[in-house]
Amino acid sequence: MMTDDPIGTRGEGAFPVDQPMQALEKDHEFVKQLFDRYCNTQDRKVKQEAGRRILELLEMHTALEEAAFYPAVSQANTALVEQCKNEHEQADQLIQQLKGMDDSDPQCDRIFQQLRDEVLQHVQVEEQQLFPAIRQANLDLQAIGLQMQAFESNMVASRASESAQRGTSRPGA
Ligand SMILES: [Fe+2]
Ligand SMILES: [Fe+2]
Repeated sequence: MMTDDPIGTRGEGAFPVDQPMQALEKDHEFVKQLFDRYCNTQDRKVKQEAGRRILELLEMHTALEEAAFYPAVSQANTALVEQCKNEHEQADQLIQQLKGMDDSDPQCDRIFQQLRDEVLQHVQVEEQQLFPAIRQANLDLQAIGLQMQAFESNMVASRASESAQRGTSRPGA
């Protein structure tokens, strides 16, 4: 069973401002499900749709973390946050590569597989090392959550108006 697209459905007021890491964990769970869907189907249409949503979700999630989350929590463990940023950069190279490819290209599967491995590894670092360090650091999580909520709703609105202008909902396509 797929859960709902968390960023797409979080909307106004639905961001868990008291527990911002819960929002990130939901995104992680959802992207895992999308990768499973991508890998477990032979149906080209299903694969293309899952692939498109993976790239979109990862871009938004990464932007949210880098703009509004990492800077607010880096004092909890600066080295770990640096490591996470590097991991984002590496994943982003694969994302850009995939965005430049035709989705009928047989190489896509291999690169999606590589992206999946990198993302799952990165999610483990966040959930098992970074988040616990943040929970111990006595930060004002609600203030951080409010900033993240504001950043996210701006991002969702501006992406929606961009895709309306292009007359398509396919980012990067
Ligand atoms: Fe994350
Ligand atoms: Fe991340």
